[in-house]
Amino acid sequence: PKVTYELSDGTVHDIDVPCGQSVMDGSVRNNLPGIVAECGGSCSCATCHVFLDDGASSFDEPSDEERELLEFAEGVQPNSRLSCQLILAADSPDVRVTVPDTNG
Ligand code: FES
Repeated sequence: PKVTYELSDGTVHDIDVPCGQSVMDGSVRNNLPGIVAECGGSCSCATCHVFLDDGASSFDEPSDEERELLEFAEGVQPNSRLSCQLILAADSPDVRVTVPDTNG
């Protein structure tokens, strides 16, 4: 599925992320800045915070663990998610996220 990443410098990157991988994986594997992913995707750092602008229907609701961690992220909005928890499926519609510059 296609994931569009809008970065804090205003650039927009379309990446084809294989199903089974996360929105975080797609960013890290393509060396996009902004998603730090300190814990490597185990839902324990909150440095992979993104705003999920489009495609929310293809993902599960955030777990309690994710919700609790999001409290540590800066500038949280109603569409805030931890991108390591956004796993693409084969039938996922296109996804668009905005990556904040406060994950470092
Ligand atoms: Fe650490 Fe997502 S990479 S919580």
